[in-house]
Amino acid sequence: MYQALYRKYRPTSFDDVVGQKHITDILRQEVASGRIAHAYLFTGSRGTGKTTCSKILAKAVNCPHQSGGNPCGVCDVCRGIDNGSITDVLEIDAASNNGVDNIRDLRAETNFTPASVKYRIYIIDEAHMLSIGAANALLKILEEPPEYVIFILATTELHKIPATILSRCQRFSFKRISPEVISQRVKDVASREDLEIDNDAADMIAKLADGGMRDALSLLDLCSGLGKKITMDTVIESAGLAGSETLSSLSLKLIEGNIGGAFEILSDLYENSIDVIRLCDQLIGRFRNLMIIKTAANSSDLIICDPKELEDMKSIADKTSLDFIFFVLDILEETFSKLSRSSSKKSELEMAIVKICCPDSVNSLSTLSARVAELEKKLSGVSVSDLPKSEPNTAKASSKVPSESAPKTPTKVSADISAPSDGTTGKIEPMSDELWSKILDSLAKSNPPLRAALTNSQAYVENDIIYIDSSDALFLRLIKENEYSKESLREAIKAETGKRYRLGPYNRKKQKNESEPLSPFQEISKLADEMGIKKE
Ligand SMILES: Nc1ncnc2c1ncn2[C@@H]1O[C@H](COP(=O)(O)OP(=O)(O)OP(=O)(O)O)[C@@H](O)[C@H]1O
Ligand SMILES: [Mg+2]
Ligand SMILES: [Zn+2]
Repeated sequence: MYQALYRKYRPTSFDDVVGQKHITDILRQEVASGRIAHAYLFTGSRGTGKTTCSKILAKAVNCPHQSGGNPCGVCDVCRGIDNGSITDVLEIDAASNNGVDNIRDLRAETNFTPASVKYRIYIIDEAHMLSIGAANALLKILEEPPEYVIFILATTELHKIPATILSRCQRFSFKRISPEVISQRVKDVASREDLEIDNDAADMIAKLADGGMRDALSLLDLCSGLGKKITMDTVIESAGLAGSETLSSLSLKLIEGNIGGAFEILSDLYENSIDVIRLCDQLIGRFRNLMIIKTAANSSDLIICDPKELEDMKSIADKTSLDFIFFVLDILEETFSKLSRSSSKKSELEMAIVKICCPDSVNSLSTLSARVAELEKKLSGVSVSDLPKSEPNTAKASSKVPSESAPKTPTKVSADISAPSDGTTGKIEPMSDELWSKILDSLAKSNPPLRAALTNSQAYVENDIIYIDSSDALFLRLIKENEYSKESLREAIKAETGKRYRLGPYNRKKQKNESEPLSPFQEISKLADEMGIKKE
């Protein structure tokens, strides 16, 4: 019968346990010198060796041939404990035997000396699951344990163990095992199984195992099902990961604000049984790398991947800004923390994609409340009776298409209100053609499609806002819906002018003399218009 690799390679002596030397050294010494405690508590995360060490300890204290604290592994006692025929060593799963009666039975049993070995040993796994009654019954035994009884409690949740029990146990904290150590063990097991594994594949398994050896060996098991040679691709496939190229295209779609494209990739991955939590984690890793590329001169030393992948990431990093990367990371981190609890993981990630591709959907609420707060400030001190009665009509009138004789000064339709403002109003001046074409040249490097959409455009400046006059539909869409486009234009402007401007489309039809600021009431009325609220 096939035996899972992690079972087959369960260490049989303390020397074979890796990454927990701070524990195995002490246990060996205790066994070798005969100074054995009556209660041990093994804590630490999953698959780090708690049950393994409990079993080794149970054998070591009973093995007549122990040497240097290690059990011999071959005598009747060692074998009997391994195969369960020696009933003096008992494994109790507290998750299913957590009642007070279970422990009372156990207490009655402790009155009898062990039948075939020196110590009767109770290994209580998941000890934090014991009921309060059971924990109290256990405490009674721990208060006066017979000299031939040893308890070994194992738990992943130390904080759930009552302090009264803690104080009677010798405690050992198992550490997460480092990726280097796991990778080495994975390679050792692979070679004993006649498997050929690439270094980067073993490293990837170690990374995914997150400190737990059981998970690492289980993943190796899965990979071995695909063939004797294990490469990075094998690991990616077995673990349900997205490959590097897929990750690159997905990141690019997010940067371009291409929701449809990003959804398509996600659907493909999902159909291929991708693990959504891991995908989110991989995306976070990818955007973190983009951040490093953007900020650190020696990024190639800091990012471990093959040169082609790094080149790929560099070219993607060139297409976006640091601000946008932070924005994406914020959303992905938040999504990641929700994912484990979510019943619909795919939609959770889809929501993140929409938020990333339409940044305005995230900002609209905060933007709106900022505007309301500003209006409130303006309104303070103005009593209702001060408000001109005809205001609503005036507001309506102001939105009408002006007559030919209206002043030719242009005005904004909706400025990019998320950027800081100096709060002053001034005159709108056309930007010189020379400066504008320099800006467009600079833009051509970072965002060629937007540059193309701005052919035959003109720009106007008012304080810290630049209004762009272009009838190109693509421009209007890009600048309205796509944060990357806005940011690349802002950066191009900053590169040429040294100043960061807010942006807005310039609308010829809605010309109005902007040097007369709107009254607070007009502003409210305009806000209501924009929000679709009917006014009487
Ligand atoms: N420190 C280690 N050195 C070598 N192998 C290990 C180590 N820890 C775990 N393993 C491997 O993982 C398997 C599971 O380990 P074990 O049952 O001891 O974990 P655990 O800490 O009890 O986990 P859990 O909290 O899930 O019960 C072992 O059979 C062994 O193959
Ligand atoms: Mg265990
Ligand atoms: Zn032995």
